[in-house]
Amino acid sequence: MSDLKELFENGRWYHCFRHEGMTSNGTYDIEQYISHYKFENNYQGRTILDVGCSDGYFSILMKEHGAQRVCGVDSNKYDGSLAFVPSNAFKEVHEEKYRNADDIVRFGPTYKEFGLENSNKLILMAKLKGLEIDYRHGTIYDLSLYGELCNDLLEHLRDPITAIEQLYFATREKCIITVSSAMKANWLTRNKVVLTYQGHISGGSFYRLSETAAKAMCKAAGFKKAEVVDRFDMLNRVHGVKNSHFVTHAYK
Ligand SMILES: C[S@@+](CC[C@H](N)C(=O)[O-])C[C@H]1O[C@@H](n2cnc3c(N)ncnc32)[C@H](O)[C@@H]1O
Repeated sequence: MSDLKELFENGRWYHCFRHEGMTSNGTYDIEQYISHYKFENNYQGRTILDVGCSDGYFSILMKEHGAQRVCGVDSNKYDGSLAFVPSNAFKEVHEEKYRNADDIVRFGPTYKEFGLENSNKLILMAKLKGLEIDYRHGTIYDLSLYGELCNDLLEHLRDPITAIEQLYFATREKCIITVSSAMKANWLTRNKVVLTYQGHISGGSFYRLSETAAKAMCKAAGFKKAEVVDRFDMLNRVHGVKNSHFVTHAYK
């Protein structure tokens, strides 16, 4: 088996990528859920900022759909350390559970072959597909760039409001904000601004948001219009559980 095939099949991936007959062993196979995001068909000439890009599935998709400039941003160091900052109470448990160092040790030579010093799979995939995509190590709390997209990140943040304000300032026209571990709409939460804190039981996700809460936060940040365009459950292939999502489109 080639080194690359071995990396695709046995490396640690967040996203499933399909490339030259190989499929990466991702936690989420987004391809089958992509229609829920209500992306446009053509991103010709557009500039995309993919905040919390992880392995960069969405950055690559946007570039393949004609975007002129795409920049992925993530606070992950891609060095095997934890990608997110858990609550202090869960730090050790999460460091143990999500430690990723084996990937970099085992596949270090393959990453090196592609000019990488770490396991940044956005850069790897962009190289494999011959796409020009920028990457910046950074945080959503300081976005002095440009942009449009933020998927499945809000719930992992201590301060989602500051984050949405940063997205507002970084956005020219439209921002797509997807929320995972989302609160399902029921008689109690439908049309209500509900945000429950769960940092004491879940170290990685701090809040659960209702759709109305996400829309209200977008409005408060300055977006003129915010609408939830779809909702869906996505299978976590590692834990075998479904994770509820909703997709918000916010316009300046
Ligand atoms: C749940 S993943 C979502 C990945 C991708 N956007 C998607 O929807 O499939 C969240 C990502 O956000 C990153 N992240 C966590 N905190 C961040 C922060 N403060 N600023 C930027 N990225 C962050 C993590 O490293 C991780 O890659």
